[in-house]
Amino acid sequence: MDKLTIRGGHRLNGNIRISGAKNSALKLMAAALLTDEPVELRNMPNLADSRFMARLLSTLGVDVYWPQGDSTCRLNAANISSTIAPYDLVRKMRATFNVLGPLLGRIGHATVSLPGGCAIGARPVNFHLDAFEAMGADIVIEQGYVKAAAIRGLNGAIIDLPFPSVGATEHTMMAATLAKSTTTINNAAREPEIIDIANMLKAMGAKIEGEGTSTIRIEGVDKLKGVSYAVMPDRIEAGTYAMAVAAAGGDVLLEGAPAAEMTSLLEHLRKAGVTASVEDNGVRIQRNGERLKAVDVDVQPHPGFATDLQAQFMALMTVADGTSTITENIFENRFLHAPELNRFGADIRVQGKVATVHGVDHLVGAPVMATDLRASVSLVIAGLVAEGETEVNRIYHLDRGFENLEEKLNACGARIERGADTE
Ligand code: EPU
Repeated sequence: MDKLTIRGGHRLNGNIRISGAKNSALKLMAAALLTDEPVELRNMPNLADSRFMARLLSTLGVDVYWPQGDSTCRLNAANISSTIAPYDLVRKMRATFNVLGPLLGRIGHATVSLPGGCAIGARPVNFHLDAFEAMGADIVIEQGYVKAAAIRGLNGAIIDLPFPSVGATEHTMMAATLAKSTTTINNAAREPEIIDIANMLKAMGAKIEGEGTSTIRIEGVDKLKGVSYAVMPDRIEAGTYAMAVAAAGGDVLLEGAPAAEMTSLLEHLRKAGVTASVEDNGVRIQRNGERLKAVDVDVQPHPGFATDLQAQFMALMTVADGTSTITENIFENRFLHAPELNRFGADIRVQGKVATVHGVDHLVGAPVMATDLRASVSLVIAGLVAEGETEVNRIYHLDRGFENLEEKLNACGARIERGADTE
């Protein structure tokens, strides 16, 4: 396994180009199952997770053409040869579960392994399954697999989500594009990735309205057609680099960063004393000299502060002047980075869903362990600020979600090296 060695204390100056959004790309790839015509996805992030989704789609019979390093991925699901998504593939990445709805909508049946829990929480799929049942699917769970069938097709239904789940909103919306009559999703998630997915589905001929609001209406159509579509820029990657610059100091233009989708983060950064300016081609982040101020964070569904940026903001607050509280309202166990950040000399205390961060005046480099994707990158941010050397072990988590992380940061003056870890 690889590790990163970071020499802290270097300011960041320059440009970072933001890649396509992982959490949109994975679902757009699954949406290719909805049509027998070719789908071309541009601005695709080259990540372990997106490559993994490509592998699963291949096992279902999708013809995937995506040369290494290429940002265009071509998918053709004209001949689906299997409707079984095996345990080995689904357990490694939860988003693969999202092939269930498209297969059910197009073919009428699918067998997909239950994804199981993960480090940040139990993450059940009951909202997804309840929605498909309401749409007329027969669902049984046997030996860890969800076996779903809707031989005469899915029917439109009114789906009241108990919580605005991103995955359940996207999954139901995709399946409903090919259902008979109209589906209404109430209490839908409003994340920008949902708008991106709806835009691609509409370009394929789907009839969707209300995406980006709490009520989405999908009128089923008989068939969807092929499409060429560019994945939206990754607001989480952009937000992460914004916090890296805020922590290390310097002046960086995040090229292509989607400012309108980053409002809550940018407001929090400004309160902390960071300059965040929206420019024509992205967002410029500047911090010169002044110590950061402590700012509280209350993580909420979009447009609130994103859970996927919580770990990075905590890293930033470890060196702020004062005490901040960070409340995580989405996942029950998403503070795994707190004890690792304390290894740098941070002072973070966790009680239930609230972490209290008492700012210290400096961090000292340490060997640390990455536990999940966003937690891992919070350790990189801490390493950029810390005095001396930091070793981040088990970085395969980082490679799941950040394209060329060390190249992008090193081009702005960071000192990060990749090597084999000691495990
Ligand atoms: N939930 C249920 N039942 C369900 C579905 C969700 O109880 O059937 C609960 C979850 O356990 C969680 C809450 O609802 O406590 C919200 O989960 P949601 O469904 O919104 O999350 P998700 O779709 O599983 C996506 C992203 C996550 C991101 C969340 C929240 C992808 C592939 N994943 O997960 O991204 O944190 O939305 O914004 O889109 C990451 O990229 O690091 C990551 C974890």
